[in-house]
Amino acid sequence: MVSRYSDVYGQWQSDPEGFWAAAAADLDWFKPWDKAFDAEAGVYGRWFVGAECNTCHNAVDRHVAAGRGAQAAIIYDSPLTGTKARISYAELLASVQAMAATLVDQGVGKGDVVIVYMPMIPEAAVAMLACARIGAIHSVVFGGFASRELATRIDDAKPKAIISASCGIEPNRVIAYKPLIDEAIEIAGHKPEAVFVLQRPQVAAALKPGRDHDLGQAMAANAGRAAPCTPVAATDPLYILYTSGTTGQPKGVVRDNGGHMVALVWSMRNIYGVEPGEVYWAASDVGWVVGHSYIVYAPLLFGATTIVFEGKPVGTPDPGTFWRVISEHKVAAFFTAPTAFRAIKKEDPNGTYLAKYDVSCLRTLFLAGERADPDTVQWAETMLKIPVVDHWWQTETGWTIAGNPVGLGLLPIKHGSPTVPMPGWDIRILDDAGHEVAPGTLGNIVARLPLPPGCLPTLWKADARFRSAYLDEFPGYYKTADAGFRDQDGYLFIMARTDDIINVAGHRLSTGGMEEVLASHPDVAECAVIGIHDEMKGQIPCGFVVLKSGVSKDAEAIEKELVKLVRDKIGPVAAFKLAIKVERLPKTRSGKILRGTMQKIADHEPWNMPATIDDPAILDEIESAIRARGIGV
Ligand code: COA
Ligand code: AMP
Repeated sequence: MVSRYSDVYGQWQSDPEGFWAAAAADLDWFKPWDKAFDAEAGVYGRWFVGAECNTCHNAVDRHVAAGRGAQAAIIYDSPLTGTKARISYAELLASVQAMAATLVDQGVGKGDVVIVYMPMIPEAAVAMLACARIGAIHSVVFGGFASRELATRIDDAKPKAIISASCGIEPNRVIAYKPLIDEAIEIAGHKPEAVFVLQRPQVAAALKPGRDHDLGQAMAANAGRAAPCTPVAATDPLYILYTSGTTGQPKGVVRDNGGHMVALVWSMRNIYGVEPGEVYWAASDVGWVVGHSYIVYAPLLFGATTIVFEGKPVGTPDPGTFWRVISEHKVAAFFTAPTAFRAIKKEDPNGTYLAKYDVSCLRTLFLAGERADPDTVQWAETMLKIPVVDHWWQTETGWTIAGNPVGLGLLPIKHGSPTVPMPGWDIRILDDAGHEVAPGTLGNIVARLPLPPGCLPTLWKADARFRSAYLDEFPGYYKTADAGFRDQDGYLFIMARTDDIINVAGHRLSTGGMEEVLASHPDVAECAVIGIHDEMKGQIPCGFVVLKSGVSKDAEAIEKELVKLVRDKIGPVAAFKLAIKVERLPKTRSGKILRGTMQKIADHEPWNMPATIDDPAILDEIESAIRARGIGV
């Protein structure tokens, strides 16, 4: 099939507003828009201004009304607990109404924020949809973050309520959530009025009378109650999702209702090449953007079946888990991070486990979240014998910037490239002075404004930070903070971040945030955290610390304390396991720490002595410290 990509991209180029207005026709609107795009509204313009809609209505009620009530909306498959469940659209509607009624009784309404801190269970999706139903704004926090991170989000989002579960389950331990929530509320200045806790069989959470409620009991009491969908403006926020910035203060990415629905529904057919009624699986977590967009909203808005998977690619119980789920539930399109495939490849390089299952239902594998290294892509292609499609996007964009649109007809795949910009995206590569560079030349990847529907209109209550973080450096463009190049055929290659964000097992983390934690240790004078290469996780953080003069404590003991400190303050997901004491840090004459050079040394990459270095001998010391730990060997 010849790809229709060029035609469709051309249609968008010649009439962007008409293009997205046509896509919007697939959804129900309570009131049509006055303008598909209003350049005067918001920071850089707003989509579907004047329209009223409800995301939950479109994701649930609309399908029940159209006769999909009996179709599975969610399949819950949890190898970690040995549980499987099938939830039809009609059952989902009933649960969402019961949870929405519970929130309404608590006084939660349009514009109120609700934090959702939940593991991978269907109730997490129900909570998100219940908020959307009543016009409340959810903010999901990933379970692998510690109390202090949760507290930061509580203080920024100021939630009226928190919805949680008694525990999350990791292969090696059960994590009681309630003590983490109690501690976070203790640390935070803002105090939510209510905490709803779903009691899971593994842990019974202690509930504080007055503030805490048993979610299961409340929903049972509200079973059968109708909770109507509240009309909201298309431009009203649906959710806030915090993501790592360059400091310990995360950025609250705002998603609207109208544009978000339009972009996601368009992506399902055109990018992922699936049809309503098919099974679509994104093996991520609801705490990340992939989980928001492609576990919950896109499949449900589109009338597909989504899978909520509580497990890992390996060890739950073996590297055949993904293949079992695909085969058992007839998954047509599968989306995961390359790191998951690296983990499987390490344990089952010859595909012995794959051979046990019939995965002929699977048409395409999609990868995102980090650079898809050619080795991993090739291995997946050889094993599965289907197209393996890399696509590039960010929490901020909510859907694909560059990809290979399966529904429009696959373009030739080039390993190492997520292919080409999707309609909505005018991507340029600029040098630091803002001039476009020639094909093949590395530069800053930027998108010409306005951003398409579905992307962040701003940061939560922080327009100025939104401008300074994304729009000011290259006027007229959105800065992706990714560096890369375009080849002669127009294919994009995404090579590295231009800021201090690192990507650990597909999770986005701020080294600046980790440095803030290390610097808070009483014995640390200064520090630098860099991301070093890791075979499975892509990158892992490594901290270098200079101790205050006069500190006589054993360096090894301090290093252990630092590892624990980052785990306690940021969370296990930071995967911070390497703290190294050094005498000095390499700096430029103006005092800037040479993190880039340190990273190259750690990764055994060729590096040049920076011309501005203050004392070249320090780099030798760093190299010895790195080699002494066996890093990069
Ligand atoms: N709640 C609590 N802790 C969590 C957690 C959660 N939801 N998710 C992860 N953690 C913990 C892990 O238990 C681990 O703790 P440990 O240091 O005690 O072992 C730590 O955080 C690091 O987790 P992770 O990065 O997941 O590493 P891992 O070694 O446990 O597993 C992979 C490695 C590759 C199997 C795993 O990272 C994976 O499945 N990655 C897929 C990536 C993905 O889904 N990305 C989302 C974007 S698409
Ligand atoms: P997140 O906001 O967590 O989704 O992380 C977004 C960042 O992950 C991007 O800015 C990239 O640095 C990286 N990333 C995501 N997908 C890809 C991809 N397909 N190729 C290369 N890098 C990617």
